[in-house]
Amino acid sequence: MIGVFDSGSGGLTVLKALRETLPESDFLYYADLAHAPYGEKSRRELLEVVTNAIEELKRAGATSIVSACNTASTVLQGNYAELLGLTDDHFVEMVEPTVERAAAFKQPLFLVATPATIESGVYQAALNGAGVVARAVALPGLAAAIEFGAPEEELENRIRDAFTGVDTTRYGGLVLSCTHYSLARVSFERVFPKLVLLDPARTVAERAAGAFGTRERGDGSLHIVTSADVSLFRRRVESFFGSRALVELLSPGPGDSVKIG
Ligand code: DGL
Repeated sequence: MIGVFDSGSGGLTVLKALRETLPESDFLYYADLAHAPYGEKSRRELLEVVTNAIEELKRAGATSIVSACNTASTVLQGNYAELLGLTDDHFVEMVEPTVERAAAFKQPLFLVATPATIESGVYQAALNGAGVVARAVALPGLAAAIEFGAPEEELENRIRDAFTGVDTTRYGGLVLSCTHYSLARVSFERVFPKLVLLDPARTVAERAAGAFGTRERGDGSLHIVTSADVSLFRRRVESFFGSRALVELLSPGPGDSVKIG
C-alpha cells in the first residue's frame, strides 16, 4: 500500500495523478489538518509533524511513501529521509520531480511556495544545480487561506502582494511548488494571465511508478484519514474521488497546535 501525506487538501491533487498513473495500487492518504499549515512552521516543528505523519502511515501498513507536500519534502532531504528508513525505492518526494519539470520548461520562471519551503533554500540550490533560471517567491498565508476556504479575492490579493515590486516581464512560467496552490489555479491565472503554470503532480506520479509501481499492485483501493475533521476537506475529497471515498478521523498526534480556521 502506498502512503501519501500532506497538511491537508493540497496533496489530493498529487493523489489524483498517482491513482491515474497507478490504477491497481492501494492508497492511504493522511491529511494532517490538526497541524496545518505546515508552511508557517519552524524546521524543528516540521520535523516533528512530518515524522509523525510518516510513522502513522507506516503503522497503518504503508510500504511505500509519497510526500505530497513540498514543505515536508524540504526537510526530508538526504540524511533525514534515510533516518526514517525512506530509501529511493520506497520513497518519492516533491523537490526532484519539481526541478525536473522546471528544467524541461527552458525559460526563466518563478517558483512560488510556502515561507518554510523558501526559507529552507532547498529549491534554490536544486534549481541552481540543474541550471534553471528561477526566482523563488514565498506566498505567506496562501496555503492556509486555500485550505480553510478564503474567498477568491483574498487569494488573489495574497498572490499580488507577494509580487509587489517584482518585474514579471522576463519570465515565461510559474512553478506551483506547494500542492495547495494547484487548488487555486484560477486565482494564479487571473493574476498572471501571461505566465504558463507548471504543476509537477504528473511528474511525481511518474517517479512513483518508476520507483515502486511494479511492486505496489493491489486492487486500487483508497482510504483517507485526517487528524482533524474539517467539512471543506470532506467536500474536496468527494469532488476529487466521489461520494464513496470515506474520510476517517485519527488522533491528532504531536503537540496541541490544533488550529482550524
Ligand atoms: N501543501 C503543502 C506544500 O506543498 C503544505 C502547505 C501548508 O500546509 O502550508 O507545501
